Amino acid sequence: MNIYKVLPDLKKKRQMHLWHTALRSQWSAEDLDWKKPHRITSRKFKDELARVLTPVLMGEQAALYSVSGLIPILGHRSEVESQFYLTTWAVDEARHTELFARFYHRLDREPLAIRRFPAGYLFQSRIVSKDPAEWLSGVLVSEVLALLVMEEFKRLDIDPVLSDISNGILDDEARHLGFNHIYLEDRFSQLFDQDPEEAERYQGHLLDRLAYVVEGVPPIFEALKTELDAIGVRRDEVLEKLAKETRRRLLRSVEAGRRVAGRQAAASRLAEAETLGA
Ligand SMILES: [Fe+2]
Ligand SMILES: [Fe+2]
Repeated sequence: MNIYKVLPDLKKKRQMHLWHTALRSQWSAEDLDWKKPHRITSRKFKDELARVLTPVLMGEQAALYSVSGLIPILGHRSEVESQFYLTTWAVDEARHTELFARFYHRLDREPLAIRRFPAGYLFQSRIVSKDPAEWLSGVLVSEVLALLVMEEFKRLDIDPVLSDISNGILDDEARHLGFNHIYLEDRFSQLFDQDPEEAERYQGHLLDRLAYVVEGVPPIFEALKTELDAIGVRRDEVLEKLAKETRRRLLRSVEAGRRVAGRQAAASRLAEAETLGA
């Protein structure tokens, strides 16, 4: 264990604010009414939904693993405010994992086995990194994907409990994306300040990484094509939005950092950073 400073500064105000918001916004799977009447009656539809939810459950579990893994890394880097925030992010992903596990019980179905769904596993393995900024630019893809899929579920309103789950997750994802933005903005404002050439190089590196992670998504949609169509998920639209939105967000964080370093702007307001689809 490494503790570089006994007394942390806790100076990063936006991160501290996000951490307090996250603490106050916690909720439990037990808060949902799992007894709401079922709307899905067809066996075939249940089978299809169970397959479609496989990468969703896989994503929540992978997020729980990766967020938890980053907590000690941020500690080593003495990034205590981020470390604090990530403890709540881990709780969020644990809750999401529980929600979908329980939803499978409600459906009375099981997800696809990993060996029958390699695309899902390969996508998750693309995100893994021990460098927080690198990890955040990969995780941006799974977060935005979660957001787009939850919005589709809300729109389709297949089952009242699934809609409640989607609403709750959308609130949590807004915080995750808010953190993603302010962390990367801070990182790039430091980099542009200290070494602009390195900042440019690193931006290119993160964009390549983002593109590499995004490329892992179409094979998932391809593998579940029939089921996604049966349920009514707008596949092409989701894929197109995913590529656009993730790139736009990463570039926005880098540009915000560049402007802060150049004293052309103050750091983004947290409320803006959290706004969905902004
Ligand atoms: Fe999640
Ligand atoms: Fe998330």
